[in-house]
Formats: sequence, C-alpha cells, structure tokens
Amino acid sequence: MKIISIANQKGGCGKTTTAINLAAALGLNGKRVMLLDLDPQAHASLGLDIESQDSLYNVISNLTPRKLKIENIIKSVEGIFDIVPSNILVGTLEQELADEIGRELKLTEILKAVEGQYDYVLIDCPPSLGILTVNALRASNELIIPVETSRFSMQGVDHLTDIVNLVKDRLNHTVKSNILVTMFDSRLRHSFAMLSTFKERFTGLLFDTIIHINVKLKESAVMGKPVSSYDKYCRGSKDYYSLAKEMISIEAQEERRLEEAQETAQEEDEPKDSRIEKVVRAIREAQEEQKVAKEQRQEVKAQEKEAKAVAKEDAAKAEEKSAETKKPRVKVTPEAKEAPDFKPLSDKMKAVVKKEVQDLMETKFWIDAAGAKSVYVTGSFNDWSLDENCRLKNNNGRWEASIPLKGGVYKYQFIVDGVWREDPNNPRKERNSFGDINSLVEVSTDGQTQAV
Ligand SMILES: Nc1ncnc2c1ncn2[C@@H]1O[C@H](COP(=O)(O)OP(=O)(O)OP(=O)(O)O)[C@@H](O)[C@H]1O
Ligand SMILES: [Mg+2]
Repeated sequence: MKIISIANQKGGCGKTTTAINLAAALGLNGKRVMLLDLDPQAHASLGLDIESQDSLYNVISNLTPRKLKIENIIKSVEGIFDIVPSNILVGTLEQELADEIGRELKLTEILKAVEGQYDYVLIDCPPSLGILTVNALRASNELIIPVETSRFSMQGVDHLTDIVNLVKDRLNHTVKSNILVTMFDSRLRHSFAMLSTFKERFTGLLFDTIIHINVKLKESAVMGKPVSSYDKYCRGSKDYYSLAKEMISIEAQEERRLEEAQETAQEEDEPKDSRIEKVVRAIREAQEEQKVAKEQRQEVKAQEKEAKAVAKEDAAKAEEKSAETKKPRVKVTPEAKEAPDFKPLSDKMKAVVKKEVQDLMETKFWIDAAGAKSVYVTGSFNDWSLDENCRLKNNNGRWEASIPLKGGVYKYQFIVDGVWREDPNNPRKERNSFGDINSLVEVSTDGQTQAV
C-alpha cells in the first residue's frame, strides 16, 4: 500500500484538484484507491459533493463524544475510489494534539486499520505545515508537491523541502519527494522559463507529466465530480490519466528492480537455459520501456513546439495591440477566455469599471538588462501573478512597462530571464519573510509616484 501526501503550504497550487483527479485516474486504471481529506476546509469532500457530519476528527480526537473507526466513515465516489471526508472540526486537532505524546504518529496508527485494502492512499493536506501535515508526511512513503509555473511558488517548495528534512531528522522517516507542475499555461513564455528553472533545480524529482491549465478542472469541482466523469476527453482528464500511468509504470519498475535483486541471489543455482530466458525477457521489457519513454518525449516535444508557436503569435499580437491603443489594459486570464458563462457588462458594471479606471495611475517600471530575453515585473499589486500585462518591453537594453495602479504602497520584484531581482534603481526596499529583498513603490492619489 503506497501512501502519498499531496502537500505544499502555498494555497491554491492544485493540491485538491490533483488529489481528486489522480485518485479517479488511478481508480480507472484498476487500482484500489482511498483519498483521505485532511484539510479542514474540506475542499476535496465538497468538490466531490460529499458533506459529512462524521470525519477524520471523530477517528483521531479523544475529546469527541462520537468516537468512530476509520472504516465507519469511508464513502465511495462513483465506485471508482473511496474517500475519508473532512470537515471544519479537523482544524481543532492542531490544538488538541499539540501537547500529546506521539502526536505525529496518529495518522500512521489509524491507517494500519486499512493496510492491504488499497493500492494507493492519497492524502490531501491543508495549506500549512502544522501538526496535520507532519502527521501526513510521517504516515507517507511519498510526497507529491504541486507547483504552479504561472505564479511564483519556489519559496513554497523550499519550505516544504525543509519539513521533509525535519521529518527525516526528528522522526527518523524518509519520504520520497516528487514535484508535479500544475496549471501550466503554454501560452505564456514565462511558464517555460519557470519550467526550465524547476528542471535545473530539482533534477530527477519532476514528473514527466505536466498538468496544463484547463477550465474543465474548475467546472468539474463545482459540479462535485472528478473531471473524468465530467468531460472524459478534455485536457485535464488526459493529463491526470497520464500522471496515473506514469506513477503506475514507476511503481512497476521499482517492483521489477526489487524482484531482480532477489532473483540475483538465487541465480547461481539455476540451470543455464532458464537464465538465458530471463535475460531475453529483461531485454524485451527494457525495449518496451524505451519505446514508451520515447513516445512520451515526442509528445512533450510536440507540445512545446506548438506552445512556442502560440507564444510567438501572442507576442506579435500584443505588439500590434499596444501600438493601436493607449487604453488601460484589462487583464484577460486564460480562465476568463475559456469561461462558459461570459456575459456583456451591465451599465452598472460599466460605471464601476469606469470609476476604477479613473482611479488608476500609470506607473512606470524599468530596469537595464541588455542581452536579456524576457523581463517581467510582479508584485503585491497583482498578487505576484505573471501574465503578458506585466511583461516589460525592450528599448535598447532598457526594459520598460507602464502599469495602471491604484493609490497605495506595493512590493515588487523583476524577473529577468526567470531570475528574481530587486529593483537596482530603487533605494526603497524591505526584506521579506523568505530572506529575499522586495522593492517598494508608493503610488499616491495626487498623481505622484515615488521611488521608481
Ligand atoms: N490545471 C488547472 N486548470 C485550471 N484550474 C485549476 C487547475 N488546477 C486547479 N485549478 C483551480 O485552481 C483553484 C485552486 O486549486 P486547488 O483547490 O486544487 O488548490 P489547493 O492547493 O488545494 O488549494 P488550498 O491550498 O486552498 O487547499 C481551484 O479553483 C481549482 O479548480
Ligand atoms: Mg486544497
């Protein structure tokens, strides 16, 4: 039984979406799967339309008047996989367990009751690194860390690596970590820059499968279903199916290696013919593996080629658009483009938008970076997100962008060819909680912009 935590203390990076849809994809591949919702927000339970009065709280807590066993609260999701639901009470366990001896081992002990009944147990962790997440990591053999390339989430990965080391050092337990790229937007050049940074920094830890941004994943959660039951042929379904296949094939390889190691010990006594047969079989299997890996590589290459062509086309369109109009830019997120319920703005909304636009101050950001291929600016003004609106233009080595902002003080950084940099021309800065330097800009309502 493989127990896998899906964790990253960074919120909204795709933990729950991965937990639900990977559970379904593994289930559809004939695996027996249990999804354990450990998040007091209960997004996995709610995303599958399961609202339960009983949760893991009743299994773990010693204060509950309704003490239950894990077997009593397991529910089936469309016969594809099982779920152990969560609810808000699970949040109180952080405090209740704080002073208990052996508090990190609660989940490990509870999962012994279902040992052997499942091939995979997936744990959807809360977006924090408290006692619940430590319990999950202690109970797990593996960890999947979802990271978005469309936003900056390296810091989250660093902190998670810290906790994995902590579990290893303090609890004497090793967890194999894997990184899963989620919400990959192949229309953004920045996504590719981030992906290559991840590949360099986390060599060997990244899954080959990438989860692309796909609005069907959002819609299916709203409908309370795994995406495979909502739209079997959409990109989201295919991506999570590929991930399940990749995990199953990794596991098969691991099992084979183990078997081979055991067989080697007996080999000396075996007749020569049977040894030859084994070698022939091993060669055939290796050839088959190479074929599958080659197909996967070809598919990734084709995707990258297609995405680069789209990015090039987008860049040309963006240039054309900025020349034709000086109107304040309105951010169009990929989701907004795909959103099925888009309606024209009402007069009331138009008035609100007009007022908002009046309050905006064009704020200029610039940095000298001759030879750079791409420069972005991101900060608290756009929730540290990245899109074409915050891409700077190259003007003979000086990169510039003018961004409409409301009055206020904002933290920001530049991203030069995927590398984060403070503003070298701005003396106003502060150290953030991750030890990095953020530059500060103050946009005042009387039209003055300071410190840029
Ligand atoms: N590949 C994707 N394409 C489009 N939308 C996605 C994708 N993955 C996740 N989302 C959406 O992004 C939002 C956040 O995802 P999700 O709830 O899975 O993140 P999370 O890490 O579990 O968040 P939290 O930290 O709050 O638990 C959800 O609205 C989800 O539907
Ligand atoms: Mg979640």
